[in-house]
Amino acid sequence: MLRTILLKTKMSNFGLPQRSISSLIQSKGFINGSWVDSSNSETFAVTNPANGKVIGNVPNMTADDAVKAVAAAKKALHAPEWAGLTAKQRSVMLKCWYNLIEQNRDEIAKIMTAESGKPINESLGEVTYGNSFIEWFAEEARRINGEVIPSPTPNRELIVLKQPLGVAALITPWNFPLAMITRKAGAALAAGCTVVIKPAEDTPLTCLAVAKLSVDAGIPNGVINVVTTNKSAPVGNVLCTSPDVAGISFTGSTDVGKLLYRNCADGVKRISLELGGNAPFIVFDSANIEKAVDGAIASKFRNCGQTCVSANRFFVQEGVYDKFIELLKTKVAALKIGSGDGPDVQIGPLINKAQFLKISSFVDDAKKLNATIIAGAKPRPDIGELFYEPTIITDVKPPMKLYTDEVFGPVLSIIKFKEEEEAISRANDTNSGLAGYFYSENVQQIFRVARKLEVGMIGINEGIISTAEAPFGGVKQSGIGREGSHYGIDEYVEVKYLCLGNLKN
Ligand code: SIN
Repeated sequence: MLRTILLKTKMSNFGLPQRSISSLIQSKGFINGSWVDSSNSETFAVTNPANGKVIGNVPNMTADDAVKAVAAAKKALHAPEWAGLTAKQRSVMLKCWYNLIEQNRDEIAKIMTAESGKPINESLGEVTYGNSFIEWFAEEARRINGEVIPSPTPNRELIVLKQPLGVAALITPWNFPLAMITRKAGAALAAGCTVVIKPAEDTPLTCLAVAKLSVDAGIPNGVINVVTTNKSAPVGNVLCTSPDVAGISFTGSTDVGKLLYRNCADGVKRISLELGGNAPFIVFDSANIEKAVDGAIASKFRNCGQTCVSANRFFVQEGVYDKFIELLKTKVAALKIGSGDGPDVQIGPLINKAQFLKISSFVDDAKKLNATIIAGAKPRPDIGELFYEPTIITDVKPPMKLYTDEVFGPVLSIIKFKEEEEAISRANDTNSGLAGYFYSENVQQIFRVARKLEVGMIGINEGIISTAEAPFGGVKQSGIGREGSHYGIDEYVEVKYLCLGNLKN
């Protein structure tokens, strides 16, 4: 049986042709290896945020469907086709899935751009980035080592095993429709878990496309299940309360993360949360200003600012303030805004009306409180209903929403400061602590500031920091746990201690 699985895996590695976009777009959920409708036959439409056109319909799955998905994942967890695989065999299977995603990169990117609005170059980048988690965890699958601990008493061996956590529920956001799934599922599968994925209602098609490729990769039935829904609460409730779900991993808003955390309390479930940020980006007088401006643009305008690690508040020291703003203005004016499938587009639409209204209201609030508009600050209905100009605003301060809240849009808010200590204390003056950035060419300052910033990740003279090899996660209310890197596996394993006694009777 295992030989057959591996043979199938290896064949699909090299033999299967690239699929067309139409064969990758699915209109059904995925449970126990079958493509299924919702138990109540309802569907919902997935639309392109660039033009509002419907690009597909998927089942509006229910709590009953979630129960079925969990049952399938539980059965698969113990089935010999999965539980019987060695770490190396799981690794080969994941590597095969990685290869198929790589072969279908262009098609997956087109689906992603259509449902998320992301410029096509960013979608291509996300397929590479997202898939790097499958590759990384395929490699890590073979290194989930236990331990032998020196015993303090004679005639004993103390042994630590690492075993799969069980069924993991993965609840993922729309801003990275692939990477947020692979960062979780790659680790879970490497550890030997099975998964139920609930993709965001705005972007389920990318998830279903890679689920389809997992079949080609020979990943057994029930190991990956996908429940599509725009009624998240009943499905989320099943995932949080089912005794058959061992852990939940969620990426999304802090409010929803807190709700899931509460709902998991009764079952004392393992929980991993990647929540909102309010990232400071500090430019010190010692900085290289060209590099700082490029980093600011990369960090702020990636995915139209809809990124948890996006810089949210820019603190610029008075000695370089004017120069920074002048150069920034020129570069922001050159950003090309348009539909994600257009040539060289850098700024796409916001994902949906709610996001659009939030951004507009934050900018209006700042205007009312006397912030200064340097660029943009207006919608672009001439391009489409959800487009908003890349915006620069100075004199931002509390209680402006642009200062206190996560913006998640293309608005760059600037605050002038005098002293290093002032910048650090204002940077830390938030309940969030996901990412932070600063630009300095002074090595003493670099270590001083890096130690004092209250965040889980820091870009020093860098605006883009995410990579499969490094731990992603936050402190304070930005989350619990780490994803990616070797730490990412820890969320999906149980540590079991064996005390082997009476060895010399
Ligand atoms: C996120 O916005 O949650 C993820 C961003 C990243 O992986 O860089």
